[in-house]
Amino acid sequence: MTTTASDLTFRLEQKRNVQADFPGPKSVALTERRKSVVAAGVASSVPVYVADADGGIIHDVDGNSFIDLGSGIAVTSVGASDPAVVGAVKEAVEHFTHTCFMVTPYEGYVAVAEQLNRLTPGNHEKRTVLFNSGAEAVENAIKVARLATGRDAVVAFDHAYHGRTNLTMALTAKAMPYKTNFGPFAPEVYRMPMSYPYREENPAITGAEAAKRAITMIEKQIGGDQVAAIIIEPIQGEGGFIVPAEGFLPALAAWAKEKGIVFIADEVQSGFCRTGEWFAVNHEGVVPDILTMAKGIAGGMPLSAITGRADLLDAVHPGGLGGTYGGNPVACAACAGFDRVHGGVRPERPCPPHRIHRHGAPARTAGRTGRRRHRRDR
Ligand SMILES: Cc1ncc(COP(=O)(O)O)c(C=O)c1O
Repeated sequence: MTTTASDLTFRLEQKRNVQADFPGPKSVALTERRKSVVAAGVASSVPVYVADADGGIIHDVDGNSFIDLGSGIAVTSVGASDPAVVGAVKEAVEHFTHTCFMVTPYEGYVAVAEQLNRLTPGNHEKRTVLFNSGAEAVENAIKVARLATGRDAVVAFDHAYHGRTNLTMALTAKAMPYKTNFGPFAPEVYRMPMSYPYREENPAITGAEAAKRAITMIEKQIGGDQVAAIIIEPIQGEGGFIVPAEGFLPALAAWAKEKGIVFIADEVQSGFCRTGEWFAVNHEGVVPDILTMAKGIAGGMPLSAITGRADLLDAVHPGGLGGTYGGNPVACAACAGFDRVHGGVRPERPCPPHRIHRHGAPARTAGRTGRRRHRRDR
């Protein structure tokens, strides 16, 4: 049975209560302490230190409580310390915290792979690999695409964000703070214009026309038969919350298919109900060759995944994919706990909107990352 909003109970009162002397003395002292031990390059948006969190509320060390609109950058979408997630994690920890799936495998990993293969779009045969972070998932999706196609070039888009590792910095568009002085970057990455209805020079341009513009540039500057992968956030989440014009994603995906290019949807941020569908590509019925997922997948435990066409993922030689902690058993249990929160993750089940609204909005905005038409008022 699916939980409804009125069934929810919380350990902490779901109320904002901020004192006048914010940030309080304990947070100020921690900020001072931090300065001499934590690298300056790690910035925090809010000048308070967390003592506890539950549902959509964070309590700080000075007794203030805040509505958690950040949700750990689009992560705690079922709320902080949700009992189903916490219970699953506790149970797992009491048995074993780690063995490394590549050395001594366990069922939790296989169960998450089954769950993701079922949940992601398309009825084709799929395979899944688990990792720790979104960037790691993106890196591995590109590795698979290059190996499977025997091609080098990768196409990314204006305003894209894909992570902070060397290859994902190359894929990311914004220089400051992500790339400035961190180069040289991975080669064979090409950037193409995004469909951006709010700021298009020609406001009348359709999604199909915007796709044609990008495709023409790819053909001219790279050659379609040289491209291993097109990677795109179906709704961008860092360069602004950018919803491409309707028709843009289907036209790109169709052209990629025609050219044998692997179409990768980076759903690290937009996946797991952030847009009102399990995945943002579902809004237009696009079936990617590979999906990258992280963030909301495991209620805050570090887990990421790539799920894609079996022929692509099985093309990689044994040992070519993996990592020490990828698909850690506790993180896999948290993912299973998340499944219980939703009353069983099934693609045919709608996203539970009460959870989305009740437990904090997506990262970097107070609104939902939805497919809304943009008003042009610049
Ligand atoms: C679309 C997208 N891809 C990749 C990443 C990188 O994820 P992580 O920070 O877990 O490496 C992010 C993180 O914000 C993201 O939004």
